Amino acid sequence: MEFLVLTLFLVVMAVVLLSIAVSRGIRGCRTPPNLPPGPGGIPVLGYIPWLSATPYRDFQELRKLYGDFYSVRLGRRWHVVLNGSRVIRKALVENGSACSGRPNWILNRILKGKAVANEQPDSHWRMHRSFWYALFRQLGHDRIDKIIKQELGSMKDALNRENGSPIDPSDFVKLTFCNIICMFCFGKRYAAEDPEFHRLQHNADTYMQNLAKASRSLPFCGQAKKVFQDISAGYKGIIKFIKERIEEHKSLRLRDRTRACDDLLDVYFNGNEAIDEVDHIGILPRMQDLNMNDSKLMNGKIASEPRSKNMNGIDEANLPNIVLDIFVGGLETINAAMMWSLLAMVKYPDVQQKIQKELRDKIGPHQIPTFQQINELPYTKAALLEVYRIGNVIPLAIPHRVTQPVVIDGYELPTGTRLLPNIYSAHMDPEEWINPEEFDPTRFLDEKGQVKIPQAFMPFSVGKRVCMGENLARKELFLAFTTVLQNFSLLPADDEKMPNFDGIPGTTRIPLPFKLRAIPLKT
Ligand code: HEM
Repeated sequence: MEFLVLTLFLVVMAVVLLSIAVSRGIRGCRTPPNLPPGPGGIPVLGYIPWLSATPYRDFQELRKLYGDFYSVRLGRRWHVVLNGSRVIRKALVENGSACSGRPNWILNRILKGKAVANEQPDSHWRMHRSFWYALFRQLGHDRIDKIIKQELGSMKDALNRENGSPIDPSDFVKLTFCNIICMFCFGKRYAAEDPEFHRLQHNADTYMQNLAKASRSLPFCGQAKKVFQDISAGYKGIIKFIKERIEEHKSLRLRDRTRACDDLLDVYFNGNEAIDEVDHIGILPRMQDLNMNDSKLMNGKIASEPRSKNMNGIDEANLPNIVLDIFVGGLETINAAMMWSLLAMVKYPDVQQKIQKELRDKIGPHQIPTFQQINELPYTKAALLEVYRIGNVIPLAIPHRVTQPVVIDGYELPTGTRLLPNIYSAHMDPEEWINPEEFDPTRFLDEKGQVKIPQAFMPFSVGKRVCMGENLARKELFLAFTTVLQNFSLLPADDEKMPNFDGIPGTTRIPLPFKLRAIPLKT
């Protein structure tokens, strides 16, 4: 009898505690007074147990209860979620100088050396951003275009060889964009069966996809440890590969100092050599020039600026991490965007045909479009903008941190507050877009058929931390997309059920697997 009473008592207690926990998930531990109200969840874990694999959707749902601007406790830390274009712009653009830090999080325990994406907005970060642009500027448009054209030519040949049989497009997409970024960085390309290509791809996947899990894995449990180990293993694998390429480039340059600058590492070592020389070249931004802001670099005023001797930050110790930012930033994201564009074309044959007609009418079947021609192709441009919107390649921007007290919507956020810009919420906001779940390029066209870009569109984020690869990504995607549609008609594979736009969640969102047939077009 005593045993029965005790069991009953324990069951009642468990039910009471559980219902308190569930209700606390919504009302939760009380929000600190200077943060906007939001769910605090339960002690220690905060709201983490209520988050699904798609936190950007959960945050969008919470918006219905708390509005655009609310707090949420993840583990023991409060975060402020920014939803919708108004609040995101208010924080990252209008208050950009206070809201552009990065939190001290899991990556800080893994990354060895400084780079860009994970840095505080200090002089190193500014210098590395300038350095980054300067590397690409020095590599030059002609070389960049040549690399992209060559790799897209190989992709077209490979698709032609398939002759319309069902294929998994991700095999072609991954190889093409991996080769483009490897050629930019290291002057190196791979065959599809090369084990090094598969290792690289695996390490980049592991690194990127686990970053998204880091914020929602439960502290103190094996899951968090595993996520940490996976990020660390992916990072070490890529860094080892980059360091080997750096050593190769150094020894090649030692053997041949007149070696052409065919890739970014060549540009770096060439710039380093020039440091002690008189500036007789006049166009090369030297390492000394790079502690100035991006706009001076972009305006091409380098040669006439007085040279400072300060080389802080751009030393070889930081080079692997800077290359990692270019490499990882430029791989998964463009793969994902290209996969979304192919899925959209297979699902919406009428849109595909309109683009093909525009390409035929404005470019012709034999000429390869250049990126400059994008403005002559408004429907194609609008379709790609819609791909970026509905694909939500990076649904939650990299977390930001408040670096000085700032007032937003009446709340004075203290230094150190973590901000989560929910880009997905801006792109799927029914107040901004009619039927946001529908793929419809015409939402980016005005009544005259010209492209218009609404304020709520922000796939590359906004403000000071805006994506550094935006122009490169837009160029690569445009050229790859038009190459495919100029040469092939895309059909779903036989009996294949095409996925919707839900996608596989992660740091970058990719479509669920699908197969298509690329039927060569007769010209
Ligand atoms: C479809 C393609 C891409 C999308 C949608 C995308 C999107 C983004 C987003 C949302 C951010 C976060 C900005 C923030 O924290 O507010 C970001 C940052 C960044 N992206 Fe991209 N990106 C793309 C391609 C690329 C490429 C091709 C590169 C490099 C070659 C790149 C390099 C970076 C870097 C270095 C940062 C960090 C910037 C900083 O912290 O100052 N991205 N990107």
